[in-house]
Amino acid sequence: MTTTPQKAAPRRIILDCDPGCDDAAAILLAAGSPDVELLALTTVAGNQTIEKVTSNALRVLRVAGITDLPVAMGARRPLIRPAIEAAPEIHGETGLGGLTQEELPEADIALDPRPAAQLIVDVVMREPAGTVTLVPTGPLTNIALAARLEPRIVSRVKEVVLMGGACREGNATACAEFNVENDPEAAHIVFEEPWKVTMIGLDLTYQARANAAVRERIRAVGTKPAELLSRILDDYAENYRVWRGFDAPPLHDPCAVACVIDPTLITLRPAPIHVELKGALTTGMTVADLRRPVKGECHTIAGLGIDVDRFWDLMIDAVKRL
Ligand code: BDR
Ligand code: CA
Repeated sequence: MTTTPQKAAPRRIILDCDPGCDDAAAILLAAGSPDVELLALTTVAGNQTIEKVTSNALRVLRVAGITDLPVAMGARRPLIRPAIEAAPEIHGETGLGGLTQEELPEADIALDPRPAAQLIVDVVMREPAGTVTLVPTGPLTNIALAARLEPRIVSRVKEVVLMGGACREGNATACAEFNVENDPEAAHIVFEEPWKVTMIGLDLTYQARANAAVRERIRAVGTKPAELLSRILDDYAENYRVWRGFDAPPLHDPCAVACVIDPTLITLRPAPIHVELKGALTTGMTVADLRRPVKGECHTIAGLGIDVDRFWDLMIDAVKRL
């Protein structure tokens, strides 16, 4: 008797984000992938104010056709540092490039009244142990607060797959990446807790550049979600060209979702990773020790490379499904 191989169950995730052009792409990838089940979405101030990123998340979900997801607003500022300076030079005044709120449909999901950290705790404690993956793509404030609010989530989640950090150069500063630099103490908590943490950092996301050919493939899909993504990416590309001199913009946040969908896309390497909190020039740096292969247990893993062609296929297939 022959047995047909069982398809793996979708990976259940909580997406914690600050949309943000590339966060919007991460939402579309998660919403359109059959290999991921979104259990909740939470927001955190980062690329724009908490009000703007929350409104953006709700409106992007509507374009994606998602109408019944718990969505909660989270931290408006870092744990101990001053309020974050948003990044309009990359993500625009609204957080979605040049798109105005009026150009997007009204939200049709009512916000969950719980703070984001509480929603994260409630979902993780409700679901069977080892089944929920946290996917943060903004500053790590909500995740750190959730771990402090209910320490049992640390042993209960399957893993944390975060976009943030870098083994080599930073972007917010020479050494520090934006999400970690904006709340280094929260990042410190997340990297030091003994759960499995996969760092999808700039070393990898700088490889996933949405060049003109990729943007044309997205545009050619011709649906509302594709139109939204293509519009956002055109502005994002122009902003990266002006501000960073990049000829194509890196689409950071969907790389973390892609790692959850199919880890074989990513070159992963276990390595001790710690967050610098006291440096005169290096605060917010994720210090990854890549000098030699790790012997024994190591709960932190660095993503170092991505299969770019397969990543774009995944992204575009997801948009087509919406
Ligand atoms: C990260 O910072 C934000 O601007 C992006 O949305 C991404 O999460 C890249 O450093
Ligand atoms: Ca982000």
